[in-house]
Amino acid sequence: MSEPARSRTAAPIDELETLIRARYAVIYVVTWEERRVEQRLVALAERRNKQLYTWSVTTGLLRAGDGAGGPRGKGLSDPVEALSAVIEQKEPAIYLLKDFHMFIRPRDCNVGVIRRLREVAQALSDSYKTIVITAPVLDVARELEKDLCVIDYPLPGTDEVDLLLHRICEDVAAATNIRIELGPRDRERLIQAALGLTLQEAENVFAKTIISDGNLSAADVSTVFSEKRQIIRKSGLLDYYESQAVMEDTGGLDELKGWLTKRAAAFSQAAREYGLPAPKGVLLVGVQGCGKSLCAKAVASAWNMPLLRFDVGRMFSSLVGSSEENIRRAIGVAESISPVVLWVDEIDKAMSGSQASGGTDGGTTARVMSTFLTWLSEKQKPVFVLATANNISQLPPELLRKGRLDEIFFVDLPSAPERRRIFEIHLAKRGRRVEQFDLEGLAEASDGFSGAEIEEAVVSALYDAFPLGRDIVTGDILAALQATVPLSRTMAEEITALRTWAQGRARPAARRDLRDVPSTRRKLEIDAQPQEIGSVP
Ligand SMILES: Nc1ncnc2c1ncn2[C@@H]1O[C@H](COP(=O)(O)OP(=O)(O)O)[C@@H](O)[C@H]1O
Ligand SMILES: [Mg+2]
Repeated sequence: MSEPARSRTAAPIDELETLIRARYAVIYVVTWEERRVEQRLVALAERRNKQLYTWSVTTGLLRAGDGAGGPRGKGLSDPVEALSAVIEQKEPAIYLLKDFHMFIRPRDCNVGVIRRLREVAQALSDSYKTIVITAPVLDVARELEKDLCVIDYPLPGTDEVDLLLHRICEDVAAATNIRIELGPRDRERLIQAALGLTLQEAENVFAKTIISDGNLSAADVSTVFSEKRQIIRKSGLLDYYESQAVMEDTGGLDELKGWLTKRAAAFSQAAREYGLPAPKGVLLVGVQGCGKSLCAKAVASAWNMPLLRFDVGRMFSSLVGSSEENIRRAIGVAESISPVVLWVDEIDKAMSGSQASGGTDGGTTARVMSTFLTWLSEKQKPVFVLATANNISQLPPELLRKGRLDEIFFVDLPSAPERRRIFEIHLAKRGRRVEQFDLEGLAEASDGFSGAEIEEAVVSALYDAFPLGRDIVTGDILAALQATVPLSRTMAEEITALRTWAQGRARPAARRDLRDVPSTRRKLEIDAQPQEIGSVP
């Protein structure tokens, strides 16, 4: 594994400065925003009275402020020679090395560069010089692990986007054909809509909305938002999920729904002041088709938060680039738009890869998962993680460890009263009056059916009745139920194993109805005089 020591939390905006002042020799900054980091270093160097140099293969070593005068010195486009120059120079300085990660990644690293970089790290440790390497992904040869300090550079926050918007407004102020009509509240919403983007992306989006209709107004908030959706989706792993689902669409699961509802206000400032910690997340484990994903979709709207769906299946798809880079970006986006619900659907799928990993993919899967788990236990931002899993055999123990998540819920097959409610929901959804159906009979006949299978039975009954030119009746649904073999029958063993696992590890998502569980209480015959209630002994 090539994962050097990582500084604890996602970087607050001035962590870079802290590390430079603490005289870390080589700082590796994970970011897409080379330019933003460079701008930050310019300001920082000026403030700290240091010279800033930038280096790239095409320009060699350049003194910042010397303009585009071309490379100073000769042959310094060679990375080893550039590093030697860094050692020789005397003045306090910061060196920003661009694209340097390509020389030191394990795949095609250059042994000479790695050696020289280690020597530089040694030499610089008692100097006022610092090397900063920016790269979109953390991928370095093992040999360098102890010589680098890695930080994740956070996406721009409200302040920075505000500043950008201010600058753009100033820039277009002179143009007579462009109107800016933004009240303070609209401005705030516009900034909010752009969070999660890099500064460059935000600038592009703002520019595009201005150019397209010649103004910037409250109406552009939704344009910016949908542009952001596109950009975020393109980056591979995250999807803004717009869901109409409400909690009432889920039948049963009262314990779970109650737990979630109770936390609706827990992200507010008032809750912080009261002393409530921000909820971290939950894991919903259980039988397929029983409403786990449904609950996830409903919780964001119940809490009035955006819902980000994290696509585990795509995480390891080579189509979307390096997995580690992807997960970092996904975490960064989620944090920058927090408070947010991060829905990790079917997390067990990722884990199945993670355990097979090592032999098959050079440990990438395991590394990605450990990045995620580390973030989970250390995250400071109000990102509520809602993970679901159908299969427990693949879940790594780290995920279940206390402190990572607030609670683990077990979602079992619905009980009779729950099934009744699920029938009601799906009949009503399709415009049927529920009183016209024998709900008790349906609930009884659907023992062992999941919510999804109940819904299917309703739909299938509709298909059967439609060509007959009449409305559906209870009998159609009963027939559909009869024609179905529920998963609980074909997968009886798996479900039993799941229940056994859940005992003592997970909290039931639904209170079991007593009528549903065969009584195990022993009937005792007690010889005693029946006492009258209220009588004085
Ligand atoms: N408890 C339930 N109440 C109402 N509908 C349900 C319930 N459980 C499942 N369904 C129906 O089945 C579909 C699939 O369920 P889903 O939540 O995706 O299951 P899973 O637990 O596998 O994530 C839902 O979209 C919903 O229409
Ligand atoms: Mg699901």
